[in-house]
Amino acid sequence: MKEMEKESFKEISEARTQEELERIRLKYLGRKGIITENLSQISELPLEERKLQGKKINDIKQHIAEEIEKRKSDLKEKSISGTSESKIDITLPGKPFEIGKIHPLMQLMNEVKDIFLGLGFTIATGPDMESDYYNFTALNIPKDHPSRDIQDTFYIKPKEQNAKSESYSTVTKQGEKEIVLRTHTSPVQIHIMEKNKPPIRIIAPGRVYRHEAVDASHSYIFHQIEGLAVDEDITFADLKAVLDSFIKKMFGSNVLSRFRPSYFPFTEPSAEVDMQCLICKGTGCSVCKQTGWVELLGCGMVNPKVFEFVNYDSNKYTGYAFGMGIERIAMLKYGINDMRLFYENDLDFLKQF
Ligand code: PHE
Repeated sequence: MKEMEKESFKEISEARTQEELERIRLKYLGRKGIITENLSQISELPLEERKLQGKKINDIKQHIAEEIEKRKSDLKEKSISGTSESKIDITLPGKPFEIGKIHPLMQLMNEVKDIFLGLGFTIATGPDMESDYYNFTALNIPKDHPSRDIQDTFYIKPKEQNAKSESYSTVTKQGEKEIVLRTHTSPVQIHIMEKNKPPIRIIAPGRVYRHEAVDASHSYIFHQIEGLAVDEDITFADLKAVLDSFIKKMFGSNVLSRFRPSYFPFTEPSAEVDMQCLICKGTGCSVCKQTGWVELLGCGMVNPKVFEFVNYDSNKYTGYAFGMGIERIAMLKYGINDMRLFYENDLDFLKQF
């Protein structure tokens, strides 16, 4: 038995592959192996002798099994480090490893922020939930303005009203304490002016909400960047210069843009900025509805009535404000005709950015 044990140890230590090792295991420990055979033979011995021999054989069996395990892990280690006749081909390419990325809308947001930081603006933020006062009243949006309608704005019911499960209409009685999901980033203007004295030069990026049905060009959540500058002697020429510079940095120095008179309650005078359609280069296509121009943002000189709400002296200070939709800019810049692509998180779409 001792001889057999020695012999098995020798064989195990000389085994060079897992297959060889397995063959040795079967030879000794298998169902028809030497150890098993020996064990079956002792049944003919007298009881005392049988006990003794049985224990000896079982000990040897144990030793051989341990030896095989040891050798097994040795061989494994060697084949991983590539020093034995391993089957691992270390020249094979590895498994592809995918790295996460910033969402295209946030990438663009960061680009816009960088441009304005370079123009001397700092970044401000405000809450997504606003009171009616900040979202509308202090921005000189009158009580009967259509944008206050529940058709356009998400109103949030105060808790007690929810509990009483009153109908929606009670919430739309336009009391000052009503809470809305902000419909634009303009309320940040008010927060900033309430807390700071001029000079002010901020941009405010963020999410905004409107009660819209989702389609290729509408979403009930989208993103805006607001801009506000207030100081002595700020003029419309400053606004034009800043926006012109932004458009050239964002879309290229050859892109034409134009200011078109418009109306916003919180700016006077107001304008919208169009830029030459990038898709057709101004010759007319479906994106620009054959006009050659696409609307980019709203802007204007801060209405003195807004200054009154924040206790700024409108004889001393003037300012400009602007607001742009990030989705819109992304669609123009990348030639995307369906806004929903930004929210579906289809990896094939996202990987392109
Ligand atoms: N808040 C306006 C909108 O959402 C945009 C705007 C901002 C216009 C600032 C003028 C000045 O349409």
